[in-house]
Amino acid sequence: MNQTMKGKILVTGGTGFIGSHTTVELQQAGYEVVIIDNLSNSNIEVLDGIERITGVRPVFVEGDCTDRAVVRRLFEDNPGINGIINFAASKAVGESIEKPIMYYRNNINILLNLLELMPEFGVKGFVFSSSCTVYGEPDKNPITEDAPTKKATSPYGATKQICEDIIHDVIRSGSPIKAILLRYFNPIGAHPSAEIGELPNGVPQNLVPYLTQTAIGVRKELSIFGDDYPTRDGSCIRDFINVVDLAKAHVKALERMLEDKSDEALEIFNIGTGNGTSVLELLHSFERATGVKVPHKIAPRRPGDIVQIWADPKRANEVLGWHAEISLDDTMLSAWNWQKRLRERGIM
Ligand code: WQD
Repeated sequence: MNQTMKGKILVTGGTGFIGSHTTVELQQAGYEVVIIDNLSNSNIEVLDGIERITGVRPVFVEGDCTDRAVVRRLFEDNPGINGIINFAASKAVGESIEKPIMYYRNNINILLNLLELMPEFGVKGFVFSSSCTVYGEPDKNPITEDAPTKKATSPYGATKQICEDIIHDVIRSGSPIKAILLRYFNPIGAHPSAEIGELPNGVPQNLVPYLTQTAIGVRKELSIFGDDYPTRDGSCIRDFINVVDLAKAHVKALERMLEDKSDEALEIFNIGTGNGTSVLELLHSFERATGVKVPHKIAPRRPGDIVQIWADPKRANEVLGWHAEISLDDTMLSAWNWQKRLRERGIM
């Protein structure tokens, strides 16, 4: 290992939304980062944004982790990788219902290839991007990691559950690796520099990109999917987590494994704020933080939506020493600054 560096980390899907923010936090914490991404849902220019923030351009391999020969060559060409953070996956709920085979093939093959090659190349720690979607509709909130998982409502959600099970089984079989599953709640916002952020393809399915695109005039109005739910204002409740806070949780998770802070080979953490925020409250936070009014209307419920879910992040707080720190208003402001930057660059 390079003496000045804490270690070398492979970030799959590193040019994506969460991957790019995590790359920045890893570099700033003293890690060397190698990214592999097939650019299927991201842009190579993200590397420029990362470099403008940290002053360091990560090593970049354009490639598809579903191809084991590609992953093998990456490990051969980049010796000394200590840990992997696996973001590479297909992640659109609706698309997964249309294209289940693609979702199962991508998300599961990527995982299998990485887990299979880790011992051979001496890679010790593995962080997996999981999701609160594994809980389904909770019986009670906030939800802890011990709550039962429920049958997934989409192939996307099913791949997260299956991948969690695969990691369990591989560790139980005696693989010499350590793994941490991070169950994200709803990641939103952008880096405060506005150099990197979220850039969904086509019409956004997620709330915050739709909201910011409406605020800047790309979309006519935001539809609030339901105001007749049994919640305080009738709209659904989520735990919106700032993407930079989320990125920092990955650094903590890696450190825990690489520095042998735990005897457990597999651990699971909820990564959320612990606060439930309704869709309407989020809209008001945006308007308050930015001073920009967002045209919106109440629309019918969206099929498949969970009524309310928010995290009990106590285990991550106490065991990982990680806390969500950035306020919702600052998070909305960061999302807006990123949207404005996209406009300045003529992208949106
Ligand atoms: C949030 C709330 C909508 C758009 C999904 C996946 C999850 C994760 C993140 C990742 C809901 C409402 C939305 C709009 C609206 N996957 N909404 N108008 O559904 O909580 O989580 O994305 O990659 O696994 O399930 O997130 O942002 O789509 O919706 O009113 O135009 O906003 O109904 O209540 P969700 P979301």
